[in-house]
Amino acid sequence: MEKIGKRFEGKVVIVTASSQGIGFSIAQRLGFEGASVVISSRKQENVDEAVKKLRDGGIEVLGLVCHVSNAQQRKNLIDKTIQKYGKLDVVVSNAAVNPSVDAILETKSSVLDKLWDINVKAAILLLQDAVPYLKKGSSVVLISSISGYSPPASMGMYGVTKTALLGLTKALAAEMSPDTRVNCVAPGFVPTHFADFITSNEQVRREIEGKTLLNRLGTTHDMAAAVAYLASDDASYVTGETLVVAGGMPSRL
Ligand SMILES: NC(=O)c1ccc[n+]([C@@H]2O[C@H](COP(=O)([O-])OP(=O)(O)OC[C@H]3O[C@@H](n4cnc5c(N)ncnc54)[C@H](OP(=O)(O)O)[C@@H]3O)[C@@H](O)[C@H]2O)c1
Repeated sequence: MEKIGKRFEGKVVIVTASSQGIGFSIAQRLGFEGASVVISSRKQENVDEAVKKLRDGGIEVLGLVCHVSNAQQRKNLIDKTIQKYGKLDVVVSNAAVNPSVDAILETKSSVLDKLWDINVKAAILLLQDAVPYLKKGSSVVLISSISGYSPPASMGMYGVTKTALLGLTKALAAEMSPDTRVNCVAPGFVPTHFADFITSNEQVRREIEGKTLLNRLGTTHDMAAAVAYLASDDASYVTGETLVVAGGMPSRL
């Protein structure tokens, strides 16, 4: 970490679903690079714990409860950010659920609604609240998944919502240009709570590692580094793109 730069000095960053896992590492990375970070998740105690860890690392942080499908909490996230810091430079939309392993044609309507609401619609609605504050040079990063390229059987509908984010990235990049760049990161498999059902099984874990060219799972820091690049001025001529960070796992030509 001592080798990282200070690309986010003076910038204000919101990362959703950031009390642990990939979201936490994104907040930590951007914070180490000088950003004031606004973190959030569904549970106050998780937010408090994450705020403490970030503050102990010398990062300026505001922690709020925000279940991304709650309209009031989304609005509060933006309002409190502006009240405290007076501006907003970067939004990272990281929240997702994967509530079912059912085949798509066997997935209940209520589960389909939840997947679309949290994985796709909430990102759009959050950006609707944020857009009045996103000025020239601002940036948005959506978190998709390698599963978006070829949705696997056991997480088919989740994968399809992640495919939608690839299209959303293109559409929003056009809509929000030229002031705001919109890009996307598609992580490979990373051992977090979210991916526990895959990565904690030794055999499945080996199979996934075998599908990468680098013979390992990803880390939350691998994902944070990619987000930091896309959100920073280093990527000032990059918009509408998805960066696959999956150790060479097949995605596309
Ligand atoms: N891990 C992987 O292998 C992998 C691969 C590809 C893509 N991804 C994507 O990476 C993103 C983060 O996943 P992760 O692996 O880092 O998960 P994680 O370690 O399980 O962390 C999930 C975070 O989201 C919060 N959260 C959960 N539901 C929320 C909601 N409805 N609203 C707000 N916050 C919520 C959780 O805190 P609370 O419990 O306090 O709400 C926690 O902070 C997701 O978009 C996922 O699809 C992950």
